[in-house]
Order: sequence, then C-alpha cells, then structure tokens
Amino acid sequence: MKRLPRLAFVFLLALVYRQLQAPPPKIPGTPGGPPVTSPRIRLKDGRHLAYHESGVPREQARYRIIFMHGFDSCRYDVLRVSPELARELGIYLLSFDRPGYGESDPHPARTEKSVALDIEQLADALELGPRFYLTGFSMGGEIMWSCLKYIPHRLSGVAILGPVGNFWWSGFPANVTLDAWNVQLAQDKWAVGVAHHAPWLTYWWNAQKLFPASSVIAFNPAIMSRADMALIPAFAYRTHTHQVRQQGEYESLHRDMMVGFGKWSWSPLELEDPFPGGEGKVHLWHGAEDLIVPVGMSRYIAQSLPWVRYHELPTAGHLFPMAEGMADVIVKSLLLGDD
Ligand SMILES: *[C@@H]1O[C@H](CO)[C@@H](O)[C@H](O)[C@H]1NC(C)=O
Repeated sequence: MKRLPRLAFVFLLALVYRQLQAPPPKIPGTPGGPPVTSPRIRLKDGRHLAYHESGVPREQARYRIIFMHGFDSCRYDVLRVSPELARELGIYLLSFDRPGYGESDPHPARTEKSVALDIEQLADALELGPRFYLTGFSMGGEIMWSCLKYIPHRLSGVAILGPVGNFWWSGFPANVTLDAWNVQLAQDKWAVGVAHHAPWLTYWWNAQKLFPASSVIAFNPAIMSRADMALIPAFAYRTHTHQVRQQGEYESLHRDMMVGFGKWSWSPLELEDPFPGGEGKVHLWHGAEDLIVPVGMSRYIAQSLPWVRYHELPTAGHLFPMAEGMADVIVKSLLLGDD
C-alpha cells in the first residue's frame, strides 16, 4: 500500500512527459509521409533539400539569387520578381524549403549556423559558381545575418527583408529591445519567451488550449497593420499552403522559433563589413508599421553598422515584399546598386 503514491507519481510523470513530446515528423517520400513532387539535392549528412527555380534558366543567367522564405512558408513563397525584369537583367532565382518545411527533411539539430551551411551546399550542388546573391524575408531574413557571418566569401550581395530580431542578442541598449518586445501581444511574448527559456516546452505550449499560443501561428488579425491588411489579396496565389506544415508543426514552426529566438553565441552587431572593397552591398529593408516584427532592432543595427544600406519604409507593415512592384525595386537595388 505504501508504494501506491510513488507508483501514481511515476505514472503521472510519464503522462506529463508524453504530453510534452511532439509526434514524430512525417518524412517526405517515406511510407505514410507526404509525396516528393519537386527536385531535391542530398546534403553531406544525408538530408534532402527541396528547391524551386524561377526566372531565366540557370545557364543563361547573369545574376543568380538564392531566396530564403520566412516562418510558416515554403519554396513557392519566393520573392515575386516580374518575368519582364528577370528577362531584362537575366535573373535566376532559386528558393528552397528550409529544413522541416514542405519537402525538405527535418533537421532536429538545426542551428542558426547550419542553415547558412545548407545554403552553401545547395549553391554548390546546383553549380551557381563561387559567389551568388542572397535575399531572405522575415525569419529567413534573420538567417541572412548568419550567412554574413559564416559564408561571406560566397556572397555577391545581400537583401534582408523585414528580418526577425532575437530579443536576446547582445549589444542592444535595453530600451531598444524592450520597445520592440512591447510591440508584441502578450501571447506572443509568452510563445517567444518559452521558445527561448524553455525550448523543451515549445511543443506543448503551442499545442495546449488553456492559454492562447503564438498569434503568428494562429493567423491572428490583431498583428496585421493596415498596410498588411491591404496586401491580403496578393496572397491568392498561395495554393500550396497545405505543403508548408505537412511534416508536422514541431520540426517546421516550433523548431523555427527555438532557433530564431534561441541562445545565439554572437550578435549581428559584431559583424564586419563582408565587402570591404565595395565589391558588394548589404541592404536592409523594414516597414516602420510592422506589427509582426517590430522595426526597432533593425533600425538600431542600421545605425550601428555603417556598411548596411538601410531602407525604412514609413507606411509599410511586414508584408511589403508582396506589394505591387516592390520585389522588382528590391532586386534592382540589390543587383544594380542604383539606390
Ligand atoms: C534609448 O535611450 C537612448 C539614450 O537615453 C535614446 O537616445 C534613444 O532614443 C532611446 N531609444 C528608444 C528606441 O527609445
């Protein structure tokens, strides 16, 4: 009889433990997993990366750009450069599913560094040459800082669009981080805080129904600025959304939050000019009315790093790359440097 409470305790612990575990991901191309419909490359560690090409054919291109998608997106959410501009300038665009999204294998060991090295392997597998252009949006924008740190010698130029800021990066004045932090809804402070302080709780936090979880995952309209609301019709092309989270939310969305808001050992403020000879440029774009990713941290990075060419859009929200003609403006400034 004495052992009963202890048994009950062990049973309860096991129950809690089960609740905290995410179900295993559904691996593309395996029995029970989603089908593989796109071309993929095999990385050195055996994982596959699915990719999508647009613009002019690779062999005829004058400019090769790799695009990195944001949170809850996939390879088809590439920057929508007009076919006219692509033809005129000879632009080839390559985008890929980040690990755990769409048809790219999950990468439970992924870090802010590993994704930069994945890009390098992708570029080499597709023979893009010694240097290429990079652009990334939102959570993919945040990873552009990693690429500047880990593969600067492979880059011709970079455009960073509405990048997520990690509130725990070092070197930011407390008021700048706090201002940015406070733009978020209470539920997002919790979701982001859990991803940083207790990543092992991330799955449960976002799966439970007691408290509201991340408003970004739930498409809460409260985080859409007026400019973003007006852009919703521009997303009508997204007929592929069922692919985005098809492996499960844990290795796609939750893993993204754990890395993006995780404990980085360095800060973008410590980066050095990747193009000291002026052979390339780093452009940073951010909407001043962004309610999804507050502008404050980007503004501070731009003030601190004189080699960053900063474009703050006074009336834009988070989704500005989708605005009519904007993709062409961004790409022209990246490739031609006339702005
Ligand atoms: C933070 O404080 C500094 C110094 O007091 C001030 O110059 C700056 O404008 C403040 N920034 C924000 C975003 O409040």
